[in-house]
Amino acid sequence: MAKKKIRAGVIGLGIGQFHVQGYGLHPKAEVTAVCDLKKDLAQKTAAQYGVPNVYTDYKEMLKSGTVDTVSVCVPNDLHRPMSIDCLKAGMNVLCEKPMTTSAREGKKMLDAAEESDKVFMMQFNNRYRPDSQLLKSAIDDGDLGDVYFARCGWIRRNGIPGWGSWFTDVERAGGGPLIDLAVHMLDLTIYLMGNPEPVTCLASTYSVFGPNMEGLGPWGTPDPKGKFSVEDMAVGMIRFDGGQTIWVEASWASRIKEEYVYSTLCGTKAGANLETSFGPGGGDRLEMFTQERGVPVDKHMMVEPDPAMGRTNSVQHFCDCVVSGKQPLSPAADGYRLMKVLDAMYKSAKSGKAVNIK
Ligand SMILES: NC(=O)c1ccc[n+]([C@@H]2O[C@H](COP(=O)([O-])OP(=O)(O)OC[C@H]3O[C@@H](n4cnc5c(N)ncnc54)[C@H](O)[C@@H]3O)[C@@H](O)[C@H]2O)c1
Repeated sequence: MAKKKIRAGVIGLGIGQFHVQGYGLHPKAEVTAVCDLKKDLAQKTAAQYGVPNVYTDYKEMLKSGTVDTVSVCVPNDLHRPMSIDCLKAGMNVLCEKPMTTSAREGKKMLDAAEESDKVFMMQFNNRYRPDSQLLKSAIDDGDLGDVYFARCGWIRRNGIPGWGSWFTDVERAGGGPLIDLAVHMLDLTIYLMGNPEPVTCLASTYSVFGPNMEGLGPWGTPDPKGKFSVEDMAVGMIRFDGGQTIWVEASWASRIKEEYVYSTLCGTKAGANLETSFGPGGGDRLEMFTQERGVPVDKHMMVEPDPAMGRTNSVQHFCDCVVSGKQPLSPAADGYRLMKVLDAMYKSAKSGKAVNIK
């Protein structure tokens, strides 16, 4: 008899909508429950996707017997308690980025994932974009030679999400655009470089526009009763065990031309740039830079754009891992390693000194 389908539950139905869609695309998965504190949103999502069970309390969902696999898509400070509860209840877990709000919390999640016999995967969706995968295969084939330096970032001109919500509260989010946006491109860049071990960093953070309720974006309605206790811009440099360096920048608000998302790699044989730009004629672009017959050659790799930015591909990879029992491409260990980098960067910004990453 064919193995039963994965019965997935999605907790948190903001970005969690992509998870609902992703499971729906996999032939061996179905969404059997959705959960959100906002009952209306949960009911609306259930009606839209034909999901039979609706919860507002995730613990009820875990006890119900309706799910065996869960996506955790709630504010950052809830990733640790919910993911661990899910693993303890025998669920496979797909956890949204960032892993959590600090390396200490991340270690608890890593331990829980390693103690469990279930699949735990980090939703580092940018790894699963078709352009990222093409670039990764080029790097693995040696096309770039040794990648010794990279620049990456996600910068916005006016894009503070939900002023006054959990996003701008350091206790709930862990930080601002560094942990929210740069986390994506930093993860992708470390992955493209072959997962070197980070050893030290130097970083600065700034909070210039956020405290005055300037730099707001289209994401969420501002709540003047809330607070802004995070940075609105961050920049830093990270050194790795093989001598490689990454320079990273992030902003929710800064006086720049326009939003830009990128990872630029410098290798001993060739370089590459993967970018999403938002100006006129913008979009996704992947290029490689070589030198042939003594002259510079630019190769534009025509990859089909993925408007979901890998968010549904990643869910499908997760389902494949649940079915096969294979280790996912973005395991808990990678989430924890990144939390150590982010912690050290915030520590460096506070102290004004370089910080070892342990
Ligand atoms: N991978 C990506 O591209 C991406 C994009 C945006 C956000 N995220 C991450 O996804 C997570 C959620 O972000 P968002 O933008 O959807 O936030 P959001 O605030 O828009 O949505 C979160 C949802 O979770 C619900 N929720 C909160 N506490 C809950 C609880 N205890 N039980 C059930 N539901 C609860 C809220 O009601 C809300 O609907 C964050 O960790 C964020 O960093 C990832």
